[in-house]
Amino acid sequence: MKAENTAKDKKKFQCQCIIHIKSVTLTSGNKTFIIMSIHKSVRRVTTHVLNEMKLKGEKIAMLTAYDYSIAKIIDEAEIDVILVGDSASNVMAGFDTTLPITLDNMIYHAASVVRAVKRALVVVDLPFGTYQGNSKEALVSSIRIMKETGAHAVKLEGGLQVVESIERILSAGIPVMGHLGLTPQAIHKFGTYVVRAREEEEARRLMEDARLLEQTGCFAIVLEKIPARLAEEVTNSLRIPVIGIGAGGKTDGQVLVLHDMLGITQEFSPRFLRRYHNLYGEIKSAVQAYITDVRSQDFPNEKEQY
Ligand code: KIV
Repeated sequence: MKAENTAKDKKKFQCQCIIHIKSVTLTSGNKTFIIMSIHKSVRRVTTHVLNEMKLKGEKIAMLTAYDYSIAKIIDEAEIDVILVGDSASNVMAGFDTTLPITLDNMIYHAASVVRAVKRALVVVDLPFGTYQGNSKEALVSSIRIMKETGAHAVKLEGGLQVVESIERILSAGIPVMGHLGLTPQAIHKFGTYVVRAREEEEARRLMEDARLLEQTGCFAIVLEKIPARLAEEVTNSLRIPVIGIGAGGKTDGQVLVLHDMLGITQEFSPRFLRRYHNLYGEIKSAVQAYITDVRSQDFPNEKEQY
């Protein structure tokens, strides 16, 4: 019996996966058999892939995650970017702002997420107080994140005032995502979560900051809660991808906090938030049903025991 490789093929389907098709011809006497094997390997989303997506006009979908189980689901659903956001301070820890979460907390969340992810780009927020002080501190914080979590990039808030920190982080080969507009770590400076950059002067400064972040080497920027027209202008002026949250439909992609879009959080309902589920209600009903079953001794039944 003779075996011979007759074909090897690789087909790319957008950026989702690579299908490897391998066929082997076996000959036995006057009979020929063709055996085919199909192997699907996931094509990882990298900063380069995001750039390609912008060039091709393909929209980028980004969501937050803070733990292994959720990260596994959203990665399998083929989300492009997972943000381990400092919004964990609100939705996981119950604080009013993002300020209290620590670098150790963020590392714990990010490492859990990375263990689940096979495809998405994982970006981790540098928490408040770990990069604003000086650029060396920013570098040390970013190195801890990259070393201890296995994530692919960091995100930080601000423009001109954090450029030195960004340069230093980039000098170590760590990709940086910027964040402009509503920057929750500066909430006490602004005092409210209202839409930012409505005034001409603030809009001009935001545009300058966005250009500066691109020139400095950020691979992408998040724009939060700014007028859609301004977000569109920024998106068209930059080569790097711009991801919006409450910034209209003309940015290169969208990001939402997962707990908000799944309806786990209830108090928070800004205009830009589309809820895809009411998990708060569904989880509560399921738990109430379980309590009823336990109390009535309906659970466990005969089939649910050994
Ligand atoms: O922390 C976070 O979840 C964020 C998003 C709102 C962009 O920064």
